[in-house]
Amino acid sequence: MNVTWVQGLPEGDEKGTFLTLDLGGTNLRVCKVTLLGQGKRDVEQEQYRMMPEMKTGTAKQLWTYIADSTAQFLKTYKLDQKYSTNEPLPLGFTFSYPVHQDSIDHGTLTTWTKGFDIKGVEGEDVADALTTAFEERKLPVKIIAVVNDTVGALIASSYSDPESVIGAIFGTGCNAAYMESCGSIPKIDRSKGLKDDQLISINCEYGAFDNAHKVLPLTKYDKQIDEESPRPGEQAFEKLSAGLYLGEIFRLVLLDLEKRKLLFTDRDQDASALKHPYCIDTGILSGIEDDETPRFQKTREMFLELLNIFLKEYEIEFVRRLAEMIAVRGARLCSCGIAAICRKKGIRSGHVAADGSVANKHPKFKRRWRNALAEVLDWKEGEDPISMTSAEDGSGLGAAIICAMELKRREKLVR
Ligand code: BGC
Repeated sequence: MNVTWVQGLPEGDEKGTFLTLDLGGTNLRVCKVTLLGQGKRDVEQEQYRMMPEMKTGTAKQLWTYIADSTAQFLKTYKLDQKYSTNEPLPLGFTFSYPVHQDSIDHGTLTTWTKGFDIKGVEGEDVADALTTAFEERKLPVKIIAVVNDTVGALIASSYSDPESVIGAIFGTGCNAAYMESCGSIPKIDRSKGLKDDQLISINCEYGAFDNAHKVLPLTKYDKQIDEESPRPGEQAFEKLSAGLYLGEIFRLVLLDLEKRKLLFTDRDQDASALKHPYCIDTGILSGIEDDETPRFQKTREMFLELLNIFLKEYEIEFVRRLAEMIAVRGARLCSCGIAAICRKKGIRSGHVAADGSVANKHPKFKRRWRNALAEVLDWKEGEDPISMTSAEDGSGLGAAIICAMELKRREKLVR
């Protein structure tokens, strides 16, 4: 439960021009966001491709890549001519990994998640490291906020939908954020002068729930995923429910059954392609569940193309059922994280502003998530008081609004 120092919700009159950076798994997304007030905005953006090796590279490579991409963006949009190091462009850095923050513009990385394993960043202040890289290039930008994607989703969605109560990501990773009153947060230093009823956003980081492996039942495949991951013992909940892992669980089951000669047993069937870790994207699972073609032709083609495997009738039935079981467990767990927040805060109605590949692309995720939430929260037949909405752009719009709110707050303090 990380305090993010995002204080209060947007009022809709936030204005200004901001730069936002979002470090995803395959790209760095850079946006110039102009908030025009009354919920209006103008966004210009570029994506800079991140080499897959960088995920396991060094801190130097990471900061160089981000600073160089930022420099390129500033040049392309002529922002380097408009701003200077004396009057820099305010920047919101969406960094969607667990960070400990003592203020909104700093954050120390606790641990990498989602398969990242860049040396020399854990335990370091990511804002300081990035600022150094900016300074070396004399870039006219200044980090105003380090933002988690869930908080960005919550704030961006609240901007246009006041019923948004939770921001959630059901994607490569899983997590959610909500607003808490300072009086209920023992870890906040009371000497900072925050009033008890001041709302502040909490990044739950519930992907790390049950890292002690005491609560959730694990299959041998879950254990294997954990043991073979760059950070065994961490993100226990995420490894059961997030998009990065669903396809991998599926692969491990198939591989195990193939080894035990229960699947793909024909002599001319070569299933060696199954041996490549993470070769099955969660999109494949969605595709299998979504397949309505006669005799599941699409599933057959996917298996042939990706894995060079010819599926027999009973194998088709098996892979369909397996894809379903893995996705159902994931969706039901995702609802537990949200239900926990609702119970803690006594939230009885509102919108869960969600983003991420699983929420957006899996055909049955929403329905399963909703049904599980209804069970946990004991809704009556036909009730639907808490529903999932598509989050507004958290890492662009959200990060920009957070910068604007923070600058407004600082201005008030000076006055
Ligand atoms: C990270 C969170 C993030 C979530 C969704 C998790 O792995 O720890 O900070 O919000 O993924 O991107």
